[in-house]
Amino acid sequence: MNKLWGGRFQKTPEKWVDEFNASISFDKELVEEDIQGSLAHVEMLKATNIIEEEEADSIQKGLQSLLEKAKNNELSFSVKYEDIHLNIEKLLIDEIGPVGGKLHTGRSRNDQVATDMHLYLRKHVQHILELIQSLQKALIEKAEDHVETILPGYTHLQRAQPISLAHHLLAYVWMLQRDKERFSESLKRINVCPLGSAALAGTTFPIDRQLTAKLLEFDRVYPNSLDAVSDRDFIVEFLSNSSLLMVHLSRFCEELILWCSQEFQFVEMDDTYSTGSSIMPQKKNPDMAELIRGKSGRVFGHLISLLTVLKGLPLAYNKDLQEDKEGMFDTVKTIEGCLEIMTGMIRTLKINKEKMEQSVNEDFSNATELADYLAKKGLPFRKAHEVVGKLVYLCIEKGIYLKDLSMAEFKEANELFDEDVYEVLNPYTAVNKRNSEGGTGFSEVKKQLQLAKSLIY
Ligand code: ARG
Repeated sequence: MNKLWGGRFQKTPEKWVDEFNASISFDKELVEEDIQGSLAHVEMLKATNIIEEEEADSIQKGLQSLLEKAKNNELSFSVKYEDIHLNIEKLLIDEIGPVGGKLHTGRSRNDQVATDMHLYLRKHVQHILELIQSLQKALIEKAEDHVETILPGYTHLQRAQPISLAHHLLAYVWMLQRDKERFSESLKRINVCPLGSAALAGTTFPIDRQLTAKLLEFDRVYPNSLDAVSDRDFIVEFLSNSSLLMVHLSRFCEELILWCSQEFQFVEMDDTYSTGSSIMPQKKNPDMAELIRGKSGRVFGHLISLLTVLKGLPLAYNKDLQEDKEGMFDTVKTIEGCLEIMTGMIRTLKINKEKMEQSVNEDFSNATELADYLAKKGLPFRKAHEVVGKLVYLCIEKGIYLKDLSMAEFKEANELFDEDVYEVLNPYTAVNKRNSEGGTGFSEVKKQLQLAKSLIY
């Protein structure tokens, strides 16, 4: 029996049992965190005199050498040793001899794997925060160039009221700001040390959990060993925060896909972020935006998977928990990729200002302006709404827009109309005047830009 846990066994597992049981094919992703955790653990074993100084030094040297090899991709792992923890232990013993077997004193794979995952997510959440920030900066830069670029704002995907393009782009900056808040707040729960909880109940060795936590730069230790080895809330939280981030990215992608269609022509994707069709030579497809929209599905799926794995699990560690990893790794890879692509796509996006402005001049998105105009002259808003509704109907009948109505037609609809109505109908005026706090008026949008910059830069 060559298993590291083989003492109790008379027979070796079936080959396919080994394969079914093993996680090394995916948890090798944790190699650096695993060695990092072991280095801190052995340092603590030395400081507490649980193992001899020379033994500890030899184990640390061995681990350092494995870490170097891991960074150069020079380690080879085997299904025979199940997972990253046992593979590293085996490689250590091969490297420095039987003293390597002392590394596992006073710990278990249960607290070890939890520690690896905390370290892994801490590193990636910090990176994700930087990536979200870069995307925000790309949006802010575009917004700065387009405060006075006007396009139709929609509700129900029907033209509603004209808005500033910067205002539209900044809406996503605020969504991303909330995503950043959520990820950064979650670090409070990620940066907690499970190591030293051992299998489930702690250990009889006089370990120093505070020291291990300090060496690994954790803020605190789990106060309950059962909770420490079975908690995966921090991963659920990560998947949930990632899902919401993907909701935001996919909503934006949907708009970009619409906007670059022949029907809208509001934007053009750069060639470097588009692809062609193998059969239709004229096509330029927004594949990157479609992929980001599509990839939201797998991230939501990973969230539901883990919730389902955890539901009804008794304390403490259960092997079901090994199912927490692939979804987490895939989510990290997916959202990091999506954020990078999205940032490049926004930076290189060409805005078709003329087309946007042309569309606000050829629609009824200034109808609210007209109702407000009458209301400001004293007509109850409900009545004004009805008068304007009838004028819109008249225009549709005649195939014209509100600005094309004659003064006589206005007067006939209501005596309160005057020559100044034409200025009110100008979409540029309509946007410029919406200066209620948080509105699309140019001076409000400029204030908003300043606020965003002060928080993000
Ligand atoms: N590969 C395992 C996992 O990912 C490590 C912990 C195994 N612990 C155990 N007692 N079998 O969950």
